Amino acid sequence: MCGIVAYIGHQKAFDIIIKGLKRLEYRGYDSAGVALQNNSSLNLYKKKGKVADLVSFIGKKDTNGSVGIGHTRWATHGPPNDANAHPHVSGHKKFALVHNGIIENYSVLKKELIQRGHQFNSDTDTEVLIHLIEEIHTNSKRKLTLFEAVRIALSEVIGAYAIVVINKENPNELIAARKSSPLVVGIGDGEFFLASDATPMVEFTKNVVYLEDGEIAQLNLDSGLKIKTIENQEKTPYIQELEMQLEALEKGGYDHFMLKEIYEQPQSIHDSMRGRIRSSKGLVSLGGIKDYEEKIVNAKRLIFVACGTSWHAGLVGEYLFEELARIPVEVEYASEFRYRNPVINEDDVLIAISQSGETADTLAAIKLAKEKGATIVGICNVVGSSISRESHCGSYTHAGPEIGVASTKAFTAQVTVLTLMALMIGKKKGTISTQRFNRLLVDLESIPEKVESTLKLDKSVKEISNIYKDSSNALYLGRGINFPVALEGALKLKEISYIHAEGYPAAEMKHGPIALIDEEMPVFVIATKDASYEKVVSNIQEVKARKGKVIAVVTKGDREVKEIADYVIEIPSTDDLLVPLLATIPFQLLSYHIAVMRECNVDQPRNLAKSVTVE
Ligand code: AGP
Ligand code: GLU
Repeated sequence: MCGIVAYIGHQKAFDIIIKGLKRLEYRGYDSAGVALQNNSSLNLYKKKGKVADLVSFIGKKDTNGSVGIGHTRWATHGPPNDANAHPHVSGHKKFALVHNGIIENYSVLKKELIQRGHQFNSDTDTEVLIHLIEEIHTNSKRKLTLFEAVRIALSEVIGAYAIVVINKENPNELIAARKSSPLVVGIGDGEFFLASDATPMVEFTKNVVYLEDGEIAQLNLDSGLKIKTIENQEKTPYIQELEMQLEALEKGGYDHFMLKEIYEQPQSIHDSMRGRIRSSKGLVSLGGIKDYEEKIVNAKRLIFVACGTSWHAGLVGEYLFEELARIPVEVEYASEFRYRNPVINEDDVLIAISQSGETADTLAAIKLAKEKGATIVGICNVVGSSISRESHCGSYTHAGPEIGVASTKAFTAQVTVLTLMALMIGKKKGTISTQRFNRLLVDLESIPEKVESTLKLDKSVKEISNIYKDSSNALYLGRGINFPVALEGALKLKEISYIHAEGYPAAEMKHGPIALIDEEMPVFVIATKDASYEKVVSNIQEVKARKGKVIAVVTKGDREVKEIADYVIEIPSTDDLLVPLLATIPFQLLSYHIAVMRECNVDQPRNLAKSVTVE
């Protein structure tokens, strides 16, 4: 993971880098550092902790210079401490480097370099790379430019990287490269920006180039932007226009990004449907998959691959596609799928779901399935992300930037897009009656409004949060399409409040988890009025018989559950298939309030990062 920001131009590099690193902190936040070139010297500052800790450590020290590189780390090799923080410098101290990813063959390279007299100051894999670059640069028979030396060094490296290299003796140039970790170049007027995503450059330029895997770039103030492949082929930069708005990256009066993002859901769900659905005309159309519609309709099987919350969205997708389009679905953890030698056929369609579009395991799963001839559909939030570019076709979720590490609005947008997709394919296949189709469109269009009224329950959810904030464990139960909602509720609670929580299909409880139930155990149950309502009511009885505390999400007006549960949260009624879009909201709010009450870092929970670009 990690966030990289670099600048070269006429402005003060330090200010741009620090501001950018703060925006990228969602990617990693265990240590941070900068290297600034000024008057042929390189000022290096690194500190364990957050970017704010780095800034107070730097205090009034020299931060001048208009060329610099910065990094916020999520450690893979070596604990988070000052020495392991990036940038790392070469032995002769002329070059410094920031790196996102893992150099897999670092220990072999390190041994060889030590034999040749190199000394290392950190435990990282990264430091090996800058020494290798130095070695190639100084020991080559012909005089090499830094660009060439970096290119040759990278051809010896196995692993994943986005890197930026700065040269103490050349204030005109930065060198950058990527393989499997993202890197964006921003092109300004007499200046260049580099970052792991486009957010640090959005107020300076709209012109960006997304580096492709295996590309290396030279950003030179005299000669401009030059791109080559690691294999030494020239490439023409493809300049794209950014659509991102600055306001979307700020908290807008909320205490945390997570809360802002929870509250944005009426709008983000609306945005993910915008231009794609018209109930009055009975239309659903996702332009991004149109060319592959036949392929999906005729698919023998759909395979969803994803991680974490996106995997939960995939599970919801399974119910949607099997119900509406009658296509068999498998939902796979990307990390397991990629290493399992899975059976993949040319008539399989693999649907990759990812907020960031950069998750390493999901990306690897796509590549594997693509090699075996499957069609790849991407459902991503980040426009221009690696997964969206690796897919044959796909649909963006258009939820807007999600900054809180705990995914909220991205999940509901993913479920919305999956619903649209299942409806579109089901209609084309003729597996859904016109009546059901039309009713679902109407219900789907009314979801933003119903999310709005669900959010009004915040006050009572906060009261419930106060009652259970000191729990050590929690159980989440749901059935059918609401089973993934239970899983997602449990994930939200554990990742931001550090309370151990488990999600289970309600009927599975009696096969084991029931042993955990006592008067201390809160059990959160989705018990909305649907086909499995009566069964869930029985499951609630089973919990109550063992003195468990039941907090049930029910359909407005419910009486039966109200009588037996300790607390109920009443959500608006909707089609069974759309309940996840509403039932998930109270669980998001509950986790948020509990985390705040426990004084946890809501937006940047410990040990996590927003975008997991390492396997
Ligand atoms: C969500 O709250 C998590 N932090 C995490 O599980 C996340 O959903 C997962 O890492 C997948 O990320 P992606 O959607 O960007 O691929
Ligand atoms: N592997 C490098 C390290 O452990 C980079 C990790 C990152 O991407 O932040 O320092």
